[in-house]
Amino acid sequence: MEANSFILLRNNTTPHNGKFTWSSPSNIALVKYWGKKENQIPKNPSVSFTLDACKTTTSLSFAKKEKDNSFSFDVVFEGKKNEDFKPKIETFFKRIQTYLPFLKDYHFTIETENTFPHSSGIASSASGMSALALCLMSIEKEINPKITQEYFNQKASFLARLGSGSACRSIEGDLIVWGKHENIEGSSNLFAIKYPYTVHDNFKNYQDTILLVDKGEKQVSSTVGHNLMHNHPFAKQRFKQASENMTKLMDVFKTGNLNAFIDIVESEALTLHAMMLTSMPYFILMKPNTLEIINAIWAFRKQSGLHISFTLDAGANVHVLYPENEAEKCIEFIKNELVAYCQNGHYICDTIGFGAKLKP
Ligand code: DP6
Repeated sequence: MEANSFILLRNNTTPHNGKFTWSSPSNIALVKYWGKKENQIPKNPSVSFTLDACKTTTSLSFAKKEKDNSFSFDVVFEGKKNEDFKPKIETFFKRIQTYLPFLKDYHFTIETENTFPHSSGIASSASGMSALALCLMSIEKEINPKITQEYFNQKASFLARLGSGSACRSIEGDLIVWGKHENIEGSSNLFAIKYPYTVHDNFKNYQDTILLVDKGEKQVSSTVGHNLMHNHPFAKQRFKQASENMTKLMDVFKTGNLNAFIDIVESEALTLHAMMLTSMPYFILMKPNTLEIINAIWAFRKQSGLHISFTLDAGANVHVLYPENEAEKCIEFIKNELVAYCQNGHYICDTIGFGAKLKP
């Protein structure tokens, strides 16, 4: 599939106005996307669990305007007009206008809210950009009702990627691959796909408790972070390792080998941070409590024999992962020993989800 197969051809019967609402989840990468080329093309494939509770709901209202050469939109975040998100959305519109030529025909009102607290340190770009891409695809579907569900999802993912790379993995669930991998049929750098092979029951309803260690602004934006992989001394080796980890995970998904899963996922998280520690300029995004939590998880895992593990995003918060059938004991441990390391005791219990939903 080529990018230009996603161009919507000009059509006279565009709607006058309307409104669509989508809720779209966040996702957590098991093999990390860190490093990209031009046009939001990833340097290595990644795979993620789609989340369920952490999501963004976005309503997109649209009304025909005098056509001029500019984008026209307002953003309302949690009920209040918001200017901060506008530059990112303007960039997004510029990147996708070739694929959605109707964008300059409308004035848009984008009303958006997250289920997770604002400034929780949880990135909202994946859920936010995917929700907006889906609303835009609903307009395309109204213009061109014949598009298939497969095309709808692929193009939604394709557009979301142009807003934020990881957003392309939030359209569907529960296990999603983005980036070309030689052993994964249908995998693409342009959009994400559902993992196409059988997944062992051990990974059904996997749990993710997000410990909010630091709710402050990100020290390094992901754009800056990805750019640090250009000329990074270990970049080449890292991209190779990510591809190899994908191959190893394929076997793990098949066999249900939880110990092997833990080794790969924790190593991926620490490698992501190692890339930041060894870039120029260099960053430490973990906080002392991030390390306290990691050490406590390791000690508890050793002592209990449970399959509890962690992963990290580009920040200090910790995602604690565990299988559903070990949830009771893991939650007890989290409450008793880990919540104390969270800022104001805040954490979010989430589980694997199945993707975005159109709201009536
Ligand atoms: C560490 O998707 O936020 O979460 O494409 O620049 O918007 P942009 O980056 P973004 O990067 C996410 C990186 C990560 C790892 C991952 O989700 O794979």
